[in-house]
Amino acid sequence: MSPSAGIDLRLRDGASIPALGLGTWRLSDEDAARLVPIAVEAGYRHIDTAQAYGNEPGVGAGIRAAGLPREQMFITSKQRTRDQGRGTTRRSLEGSLQRLGLDYLDHFLIHWPLPQRGLYPETWSELARAQEEGLARSIGVSNFLPEHIDRLIDHTGVTPAVNQLELHPHYQQAPVRDFHAHHGILIESYSPLGGDGASALEDPAIAALASKHGRTPAQVALRWHVQQGLAVLPKSSTPARIRENAELWDFELDAEDMRRIGALDRPDGKRLPAPEQMDEAF
Ligand code: A2P
Repeated sequence: MSPSAGIDLRLRDGASIPALGLGTWRLSDEDAARLVPIAVEAGYRHIDTAQAYGNEPGVGAGIRAAGLPREQMFITSKQRTRDQGRGTTRRSLEGSLQRLGLDYLDHFLIHWPLPQRGLYPETWSELARAQEEGLARSIGVSNFLPEHIDRLIDHTGVTPAVNQLELHPHYQQAPVRDFHAHHGILIESYSPLGGDGASALEDPAIAALASKHGRTPAQVALRWHVQQGLAVLPKSSTPARIRENAELWDFELDAEDMRRIGALDRPDGKRLPAPEQMDEAF
C-alpha cells in the first residue's frame, strides 16, 4: 500500500481533509468497487460520492476492499435535493451510511441549494444537529452561491466547512473565491480539469507548462489547484489516470507558471448548470 498522496488541509471546524480526493460521478457501483481500491493503493485517502451518483454501495464495497482502517479514510457524500427539509434530512444521512456500510461520514454536504424550493436553510439546521450527534464529522455544501451561504449563516449561525464548486483553469471564479477566503470556507474544485472533454488538457499554455516540467497536462492543471490551497476532486474511470492524477507532490509551478494559468479564465468557461437551473435530479 502506498503512503497517503499529498497534504491535508485544515477546515474551519478543526477537522483535516486530504487535498486530493477521488471524484466518482458517473461511476457505476461495479466500477466504483473496482477503482476505489486502486485509488487507495495509489495514495488517495479521500473519496467523494453522492446519493445522486447512485454508487454509494459500490464506493462502500471499494472502501472495505481497500482494507485501510476507517480513520485513515475521508469519505464524503451529498444529500439529494429531493430529501431536503425538516424531518427528512437525518433519515437521508442515515440512508447514505447504510448504503456505504459506514457508521459515520467525514463530510455530508447539501448537494444543490435548489433556491426555488427554499428548504436549504432548515436542511442545514438539521445537518448541524446530525453533526453534533457524530453522524458526520464535518458538514458543508456544494454548488452554493455566496448569497445562499449568507442565508445559511443568518439562519443558523453555522458556517459550512466546505463548498464544492466547478472550478478549473477556464472557469476560475475569482470573486467567489474571495468570499470563501473571507469566511474561511474551503473550496473543493470539482471538474478540476474542465469537465467532460477535460478542456484544460487541450489548452496550449498548459501543454507548454507540462513540457517545461516533464509532467502531463492533467498534473499541471491539478497542481495549479493545490498550490492555491484548493482541494481537488479529479474523476477518472481509468486506473492509469487515477495514478497519474495523484502524482502532484514532487514538482512546483513557479509564480510565472501560475500567472500563465491565471490568464486562461474565460467568460464562457462554465460547463455545468447554474445552481438555480438545477432541477431535482440531483
Ligand atoms: P476518464 O474517466 O475516461 O479517465 P473532471 O474531473 O474535470 O470532470 O474530468 C473528468 C474527465 O477527465 C473524464 O472525462 C476523464 O476521463 C478525464 N480525465 C481524468 N483524468 C485524466 C487525465 N489524467 N488525463 C486525461 N483525461 C483525464
